[in-house]
Amino acid sequence: MFLPMIKFNSKTLFMAPMAEITTPSLRRCVRKFDKETVLYSEMLSGAAISFGSSHNEPLTIINENDEPFVFQLLGGDPGTMAEACRILAEKKCSGIDINMGCSAPDIVKKFQGSRLLSDMAATREIVKQCRKVFSGTLSVKMRSGFEESDNKYLVDFAKMLEAEGVNYITLHPRHGKLSFRRTADWSLVKLLKEKIQIPVVGNGDIASPDDVKRRFGETGCDGIMIGRNAVAAPWIFALARGLLNDGSYKLEVNLPDVFSDVLLGIKKDLPEHLHKSRGHRFAFYFCKNFIFAHDIFKKIRNVDELDLMIEIINEYVIRNPEERVKVFEQE
Ligand SMILES: Cc1cc2nc3c(=O)[nH]c(=O)nc-3n(C[C@H](O)[C@H](O)[C@H](O)COP(=O)(O)O)c2cc1C
Repeated sequence: MFLPMIKFNSKTLFMAPMAEITTPSLRRCVRKFDKETVLYSEMLSGAAISFGSSHNEPLTIINENDEPFVFQLLGGDPGTMAEACRILAEKKCSGIDINMGCSAPDIVKKFQGSRLLSDMAATREIVKQCRKVFSGTLSVKMRSGFEESDNKYLVDFAKMLEAEGVNYITLHPRHGKLSFRRTADWSLVKLLKEKIQIPVVGNGDIASPDDVKRRFGETGCDGIMIGRNAVAAPWIFALARGLLNDGSYKLEVNLPDVFSDVLLGIKKDLPEHLHKSRGHRFAFYFCKNFIFAHDIFKKIRNVDELDLMIEIINEYVIRNPEERVKVFEQE
C-alpha cells in the first residue's frame, strides 16, 4: 500500500499531539495558516483501535488537507499495538507515532506512555511488531526518561529505536516525574542529534517564532514541535516559517473568528458528548490571547454548549473592540 512519508528539511515544524485538543477542527485551523506543518491526532488507545471500538471513529477522522498527518498510538502490548497500526495504515496516514511520553498515573501503571522508557527490552518488542506491519513513517515521541534523565540510557534507548527501524524521534526533554515542571532541557535534544542518524525533533516550551529559530540554531535538530502555545496561537507555525524563510512576518488575526471557527468545527465533526470537554480544553489556552483571560475562561467553564462559549467571546470583544484583531509583525 502506498503511504506518503514525512519529509524533513531544515525547517520541519510539527504541531504536538494533545489529548482532547488536536481535534480535526483545530487541525483545519492550523492548516489554514500554514500548509506544511506536520499535524497529529490526539493520542488514541491502541487497544481500543485494535478491538474496533466505535467510540474511536470520530477521533480517527482525517481531513482532506491534514497531510502530512500522523496518528499517535498509546499502548504497551506488542500484539495490540501492531494490530492498531495495521488498521490505521488503511486510512492512509503519513505516519504513526508511539507515545512514550504520557506520564499520567493511570497510564503509566498500565505500562503505557512514559513507562515504556523504563523497559528497553519490552519496548523493543513493541516497536519491532509495529515496524513489521507498518510501511509508512514510524516515529516515537518520548520524554528524556521515566523517573529520571540519564544521558547514557537516553542515547542507548534512542539507538535501540533507530536499530528497530523508527524513522524519527521527537524528544520532550523532561523526565516523566517532572510533568511540566522546570524548563525543558534542550541540551538533550542537541545530544541526541549528535548521537543518532535518524532525524530528531525537539519539543518543549516553544513560545514564539524567535524560540523556533533559536532552538534550530542551538541544537541542529531536524524539526521543532509546538504544543500548548500552538493552541493559544494556531498561526504560530506561519509566523515561524516566515521568520525562517524570509526573516520577517506580518499577519492580522481576527480572534473571535478563529475561536468560533474551531468550536463550530468541533460541533460539526464530533458527537455531542465530546463538545464540552473539547470546547473547554481549547478555550483554556485560546483565552490567553485576551487581557481578561482568567475572567473569560471562568465564564466559559460554566457553560456546556459550544454556541454559548462563542457568545461569551463575542460579547467580550464587543465590550473590548481593540482586542478583536491581533497584529503580528516582525521586520
Ligand atoms: C492538554 C495536553 C494534552 C497532551 N496530550 C498529549 C498526547 O496525547 N500525546 C503526547 O504525546 N503528548 C501529549 N501532550 C504533551 C505535548 O504533546 C507536548 O509534548 C508538551 O505539551 C510539551 O510541549 P509544549 O511545551 O510546546 O506544550 C499533551 C500536553 C497537554 C498540555
